[in-house]
Amino acid sequence: MKINSIKGMHDLFSFQTQNWKQIENLLHNFFEIHGYGEIRTPMIEKAELFNRVIGDETDIVNKEMYSWKDQGGDILALRPELTAPSVRSYIEHNMDKLNKVTKLYYLGPAFRRERPQKGRQRQFYQYGIEAIGSEHPEQDAEVISMAYNIFNMLGVENLELVINSVGSKETKKKYSTILKEYLSSHIGDLSDISRERYSKNPLRILDSKSKEEQSIIKEAPSILESLNDYEKKHFDQVQRFLDKLNIPYTIDHRLVRGLDYYTLTTFEIRTQSIGSQDALCGGGRYNNLIEQLGGKPVPAIGFAAGMERLMMALNLDKQTKASKIDVFIISAGDDAITNSLKICDTLRNQLGIKVMMDFTRGSFKSQMRQANKLNAEYAIILGEEEIKRKVGVIKTMSSGDQFEVPLDTIHKHFDVERVKDDQ
Ligand code: HAM
Repeated sequence: MKINSIKGMHDLFSFQTQNWKQIENLLHNFFEIHGYGEIRTPMIEKAELFNRVIGDETDIVNKEMYSWKDQGGDILALRPELTAPSVRSYIEHNMDKLNKVTKLYYLGPAFRRERPQKGRQRQFYQYGIEAIGSEHPEQDAEVISMAYNIFNMLGVENLELVINSVGSKETKKKYSTILKEYLSSHIGDLSDISRERYSKNPLRILDSKSKEEQSIIKEAPSILESLNDYEKKHFDQVQRFLDKLNIPYTIDHRLVRGLDYYTLTTFEIRTQSIGSQDALCGGGRYNNLIEQLGGKPVPAIGFAAGMERLMMALNLDKQTKASKIDVFIISAGDDAITNSLKICDTLRNQLGIKVMMDFTRGSFKSQMRQANKLNAEYAIILGEEEIKRKVGVIKTMSSGDQFEVPLDTIHKHFDVERVKDDQ
C-alpha cells in the first residue's frame, strides 16, 4: 500500500521552489539592508517554552501544538511559530550583551494542527523579524512599515493594515474586567467557545468570526479607552510615524490577536484576494516576554508572515510552463554517450550552461520529444554516423536550422563571451 504525505502538509515541486527561491532571496536581501541578521533555530523545542510564551489557554498551544514525550522523557514540541525560539535563543546566548537592540530575521517551517483549508496548512513557512531592545514607537513604525513594504514592493493587491494597542499587562487585566462586565448580559447569546473563553481568556472573544456574535462584539467597550497616558501617547506616535511613512492603516480596537504575549501595539496585514484565510501577516509588541522567560526586562516587537499565503497573493502557486534549458544532447551508441557526458561536463562546469542529456537510451524521436518538452533552445545531435566522422550537429530548436561542427570544439559554440570577442 502506498504511503501519502500527512494531511495539511505538502510537497513543493520545482515549478514552486523556483518561485520560492526568488522570493526568499528577495526577503534575505530586504532584511539584510534593514540591518537584521538571520537566525536559524531548531524545529523542535521543549514544549514548556511555547506553553509559557504563547499561553496555555491559547488555541495554538492548547489544541494545535504537536507535542510528545521523547525516549528520554522530555516533553518536546514542533515549533508552532518562531518568536518563542528566537527569544529563547536571545536569552540563552546573552545577545543583550552584544548590541543594545538585537535585530533578528527568520524564514522556516512552523507546525500547527489546525483544520486544513485553502491558505491553512499544518506545516507552513513563516518569514518574520524580531527587534529586541527598544520600547520606542519608532521601532514599532520600522517593523510595521517593513511588513507592509514587502507586500507593497511585491505588488500584492488590496492590502489592508489594521493596528491596535492592547496596552500593558495591567491595562489588559483592567480591560478584561470591563469586557466581562459588558459580556455578562449577553452570555446566553455567546457560542460554547466564547463562553469557555469568557472565564479563561475573555479578550479572545473579540476575535470571534461567528456572525451571531458580531453585533455583540461591535458594541463592546474599546480597549483603547483603557490605555493609560503613556500607552496612549505611544500609540499616537506610532500612528504619526506611519502617516509620515505614507503607510495606510485602519485602527480596530478588537484586534487582540491569538497569542497571549502581546502588549501595546498589535497589527495585522490582510488581503481579500486570497480567500477566507486572509491574514498575510501578524505581529506586535511583547514587552514582558523576555523577563517572563528568565531574561532581563527588555522590550521587543516583531511580525511573522506566511509564505504560502504570500505566494497565493502573488499568483505564484500555479503550475507554469517548464523553464527553458539551454541545450539537450541527443545521442545514439556507446561512443556518443561517452561524448555526451563529456560535453555536459564541459558546458556546465566551464561555461555554466544549463544542459541535459538523455538517460533512457530512447529512440532519436523520443529524445527529440524530450528536448522539446524541456523547452531546450538547442539540441546537440550525436549519432553513430556523426561520431565516426568526429562531428556533432547543433540544431536551433525554434527554427530547425542545423549545422555540423568538429566534436572536440563543440563547446566553443556556446561560449557567448568568446563569440562576442570574435565579432
Ligand atoms: P500568527 O498570526 O500566529 O503570528 O502567524 C503569522 C502568520 O503566519 C499569519 O498571518 C499567516 O500568514 C501565517 N500562518 C499562521 N498559521 C498558518 C497556517 N496554519 N497555515 C498557513 N499560514 C499560517 C505569529 O506566529 C507570531 N509569532 C508573529 C509575531 C512575531 N509576533 C511578534 N513577532
